[in-house]
Amino acid sequence: MFLQELLLLFFLTFASLSSCFGRFKEDPYVTKTHQAYGHYWGDKYKPRYASSLKSDVPESFGLMTRLNRPVASSASPKMVNIDDYGAIGDGGDDTETFEQAWNEACSEGVDLVVPRNKNYYLKPTIFSGPCRSNFALKIYGTIKASPKISDYEKDRQHWLLFANLTNFRVEGGGIINGNGRNWWKNSCKIDKTLPCTHAPTAVTFFACNNLRVRNLRIKNAQQMHLTFQNCVNVKASNLVVTAPGDSPNTDGIHISETQNILLQKCVIGTGDDCISIKGGSKYVVATDIVCGPGHGISIGSLGAQNSEDRVSNVLVNRAKLSGTTNGVRIKTWQGGSGYVQNIKFQNIAMQNVTYPIIIDQNYCDQEEQCTEQEKAVQVSNVVYQNIGGTSASEVAIKFDCSKSFPCQGIWIQDVNLVRQGNGAVTGSCANVRFFNRGNISPQCLRET
Ligand SMILES: *[C@@H]1O[C@H](CO)[C@@H](O)[C@H](O)[C@H]1NC(C)=O
Ligand SMILES: *[C@@H]1O[C@H](CO)[C@@H](O)[C@H](O)[C@H]1NC(C)=O
Repeated sequence: MFLQELLLLFFLTFASLSSCFGRFKEDPYVTKTHQAYGHYWGDKYKPRYASSLKSDVPESFGLMTRLNRPVASSASPKMVNIDDYGAIGDGGDDTETFEQAWNEACSEGVDLVVPRNKNYYLKPTIFSGPCRSNFALKIYGTIKASPKISDYEKDRQHWLLFANLTNFRVEGGGIINGNGRNWWKNSCKIDKTLPCTHAPTAVTFFACNNLRVRNLRIKNAQQMHLTFQNCVNVKASNLVVTAPGDSPNTDGIHISETQNILLQKCVIGTGDDCISIKGGSKYVVATDIVCGPGHGISIGSLGAQNSEDRVSNVLVNRAKLSGTTNGVRIKTWQGGSGYVQNIKFQNIAMQNVTYPIIIDQNYCDQEEQCTEQEKAVQVSNVVYQNIGGTSASEVAIKFDCSKSFPCQGIWIQDVNLVRQGNGAVTGSCANVRFFNRGNISPQCLRET
């Protein structure tokens, strides 16, 4: 009975997912996503949903249609090369040059080119729209952050900020280097005598619509590497995001208040979450992700300081995590409200991951102990399917859910985790209603 309800719920969820996505039409890119999607659904789901998925879900990222088309009627390959604006490269500060060139490219709607074989140094810079549609920033060379903390006095949250842009692309195969070492040294996580302050996010996309980010390396961010905030219709692919495993809070890709976002073929290794998905985000797909070192792929943290957060319809498919502290994680603070629902983690390989599968509703990332609170962000309808590999700790599956708001509708199917090296693994499951299917090892031991 409950089983049927659950199936129905899933059906409704994915049906709504597809109808929402169904609005976008005729995407050449669709076929590929569609094929990829084909693998997402276990055999069990196929007969029921296959047809609706076939026709609709792939169109989710129909935005690409417009982006992929050549810029309407502009046969002239006009572009703006920052060297033509007198950029120095290799040493000097090119912030103003970039601003001027951006203004030109933005108002004309022509590509802005950063040539290869040079390092262009930038202080915090805002690339804002609205601009003419359909232009790109093509980074072939390297953009490097000013290492001087005093350069960030006006805005310590952002280094490169792209805001209010529609139909925009960033690509080119070049490097964005946050040059973060000075910031890491001054982090309270590294030097406990220092107060905790914000360090800038290297690249932020704020309020962007129909955005494509691809073929870039982003490294050594001051704090987070790449953030999508308040964006709609995003495809980010072929990104390599790296920082040392001990660099503080250097999340790889951070998604907040964003919907319809596809992350594809990204290699991420940093000192914090490879991917973090925060409140206000829905219809998030991450596929073909390589993660490590780092803290894994996380939904959260949510509900901090008694806040309300909502995350729904997240699919993580085909990921490989190596040497990370967590594999796939949902983390919420006590005292929050809202929900995390309709989440699917699928086809995931773990290699020496400390907590491969974890829901932590007692997340507490602060100096003082967190006090016990009744309220919690409700976690429901989470599928773990075809997850295998090795756990670095004994606890391969850990569901530490809220007493007052137990985790509901947790599906575990074909999960096989063994200990890295020698030793046993266990599943530790508190306050969770779960269902098993297929072969599962270790079994979740009910604790209440
Ligand atoms: C983006 O647009 C909003 C609303 O028009 C405006 O308030 C904000 O200042 C803009 N942000 C940037 C960085 O241009
Ligand atoms: C596994 O991870 C642990 C701790 O994270 C580490 O100490 C150990 O060297 C790793 N083992 C292998 C084989 O990588």
